[in-house]
Amino acid sequence: MEQKKVWIPFLVIIMLLGLGMFFFPFLQKQLQREKEEAPPFEAEEITTPNSQTWEEEMAKTYDYYKEENQDRYLAYREKHSELSDENILTYVNIGLDQPYYTNTKEAPNQNTPYVLVNKYYYLGSNYVPDNLEELDTNYSKGGISLVKEAKEAFIQLVDAAKQDGYTIRAISAYRSYEYQEGLYQRYVNQDGIELADTYSARPGFSDHQTGLAVDVDNRELDFNSFEQTKEFTWMQEHAVEYGFILRYPKDKTDITGYTYESWHYRYVGVDLAQKIKASNLTFDEYYMRYLDKN
Ligand code: DAL
Ligand code: ZN
Repeated sequence: MEQKKVWIPFLVIIMLLGLGMFFFPFLQKQLQREKEEAPPFEAEEITTPNSQTWEEEMAKTYDYYKEENQDRYLAYREKHSELSDENILTYVNIGLDQPYYTNTKEAPNQNTPYVLVNKYYYLGSNYVPDNLEELDTNYSKGGISLVKEAKEAFIQLVDAAKQDGYTIRAISAYRSYEYQEGLYQRYVNQDGIELADTYSARPGFSDHQTGLAVDVDNRELDFNSFEQTKEFTWMQEHAVEYGFILRYPKDKTDITGYTYESWHYRYVGVDLAQKIKASNLTFDEYYMRYLDKN
């Protein structure tokens, strides 16, 4: 009796092993099948970021992303794969995805140093800035006015330049809507509309109507040659210290819509002028990225 009982566990083990060997290949096959059918473990983690659209990513990353411009961003991006995301958003916000003088809007921040006037933002035909004051002939050609704050800054700039041995004067500053109308027409008659548009603003769209813009010369050379003067070199370093920026830089003509103007400076205030210069952006770009609160 005792001997029989000893064999029972061995028998059970042998039977279980036999069963195991029989079923093991099936089990293995089944596991393999499940592994192949199931998505990889990391699948969810990989697909989530990829499923975020470009526009969703832009909206999260840049606070100057505008929901209402979404279709325009996408269309512009299709055409300009060479541009960075920042530039796509900025250029569309300026309006550059559409021809100059289309989709125009009234200039924001009127009667402040931050007023933006370009080929998409205009001042009304009745707009005359507050506090216009005339510059005397120590500082200008005569009969030339700027907004008080800009005038005072310009006087300081000219005085500082003089201290350093340089001569700067204003040859054009505030221009009324009507004056610009006549000027632009004269250029159109002379050069045709296409060429005139590259260097002269249409009435309502001139930086000069803000009363914050000033064209300068050195009392010797024509303003067109200002770039070649030592006064220009001085302005490049010191204009921002008095709140003035070069409004139409050389390498940004597609953004400003105007050919390079070494003589045209725009008052924006010292703080902003320093920031714009440091950013290497035009006023138009800087405005759309950091000042546009609409
Ligand atoms: N020359 C500048 C762009 C103007 O006409 O306002
Ligand atoms: Zn000018």
